Amino acid sequence: MAETVKLTFEGETYEFPLVIGTEGEKAIDISKLRQTTGLITLDPGFVNTGSCVSAITFVDGEKGILRFRGYSIEELARYSSFREVAYLLIHNVLPTHEELQNFSILLNDQSMVHEDMQHFFETFPRGSHPMGILSAMVTALKSFYPYLQSAEEEMDRTVTRLLSKVRTMAAMSYKISIGHKVTYPRPDLSYCANFLNMMFDSPVKPYHIHKELVKALNVFWILHADHEQNCSTASVRVVGSGRVNLYAAISAGIAALWGPLHGGANQAVIEMLMDIKNDRGGLSRAVKRAKDRNDPFRLMGFGHRVYKSYDPRAKILKKMVDRVFTKLKISDPLLDIAKELEEIALQDDYFIDHNLYPNVDFYSGILLRAMGIPTNMFTVMFAIGRLPGWIAQWKEDADDPKWKLSRPRQIYAGPRKRKYVAIEKR
Ligand code: SDX
Repeated sequence: MAETVKLTFEGETYEFPLVIGTEGEKAIDISKLRQTTGLITLDPGFVNTGSCVSAITFVDGEKGILRFRGYSIEELARYSSFREVAYLLIHNVLPTHEELQNFSILLNDQSMVHEDMQHFFETFPRGSHPMGILSAMVTALKSFYPYLQSAEEEMDRTVTRLLSKVRTMAAMSYKISIGHKVTYPRPDLSYCANFLNMMFDSPVKPYHIHKELVKALNVFWILHADHEQNCSTASVRVVGSGRVNLYAAISAGIAALWGPLHGGANQAVIEMLMDIKNDRGGLSRAVKRAKDRNDPFRLMGFGHRVYKSYDPRAKILKKMVDRVFTKLKISDPLLDIAKELEEIALQDDYFIDHNLYPNVDFYSGILLRAMGIPTNMFTVMFAIGRLPGWIAQWKEDADDPKWKLSRPRQIYAGPRKRKYVAIEKR
């Protein structure tokens, strides 16, 4: 007998099915609520509302657990590669050698960008934010590949085209923004090594591809690859539910990720640390402002809607930063400030009482700085990492025979009915 939840309203008792996930999470299925009771639910920011049943990512915010298709983020970061994790998220299995090889061939075959797209980059005003450019360029891909998702194009081609071209476009937009010649992808380089080479190789100074940075970039993108129904993934699902093409839905995800409360936080963390570095007493001032309820200032890179414990990704990134700094014999004053800020916050009652810990964005920017990535491209780096997750989440919807258009309800609180008044009488 399926478990149910009872609701009593205006003397009537109603029963609704209880949905229990594979990890024991419980939800009331209210899909018949309005039809049976006339009620709807209200939950600004969807703090308590599940939008779907998903088999892709499991997060336990209290215990700091993150798994992709059942595999722990710690094991994937240690043993896997970004390509392999992308395949896992999209296909729900770790690929065999042959499957990974075929996936890689498709990624390589699709790594070039149509030469006409270069003009798009050149017509954006200098100084345009790379996230705005990326969102526009991804939508434009549909114009260059109109047969997208048609019968003659199998899914892996659609998927690898996006995974490969977004990486190339990101590097292209950087090169064009600094007035340099575009570096083309190379068939002999892996996904991550190709990106670094496209970003930093130059005719007068060949780029030395450091294996430590390739490993770090693999881990960085693995950690960002998915995170259940976050703001940008929810946006991809909502926009995709209108049956728009995949690339337009992904473009919506890029736009949502841009915000400083979401993916834009990695850039905001570095800007915050720079402000602290340039301001004597900046550290204590930042902590003081973060605790002041009348001050809109937030400690960027701290806090999370789901993690009420240390974000497991932040732990891995912090270790990866220490490893890269040791191997490359480099340092960064912002790392010292970040560690000091973390230590102060984690001992402060305000942060303890509010369950505020470092999240994925707190150390990620410091790692990207070590790679030489410009600050205004940090969120683009997050977007490239999140692509496989967005695609997998969209595909999970698209493969559902009961795929519904997303259209939330509301409670109206505006004026009651009133008569129109001619302008002469107002
Ligand atoms: C990502 O959802 C995901 O999974 C996202 C992500 C992913 O992989 O997709 O994990 C990536 O977006 C990580 C989050 C990056 N954003 C930041 O680092 C920005 C700083 N963080 C905050 O703005 C905030 O923590 C949020 C937005 C991330 C989450 O906030 P919530 O869940 O909406 O909660 P809230 O803003 O209502 O805050 C609850 C309380 C408030 O205090 P009270 O009014 O209850 O006294 O906590 C306080 C807030 O003032 N608070 C903070 C704080 N975060 C929350 N106070 C100071 N500094 C902060 N960073």
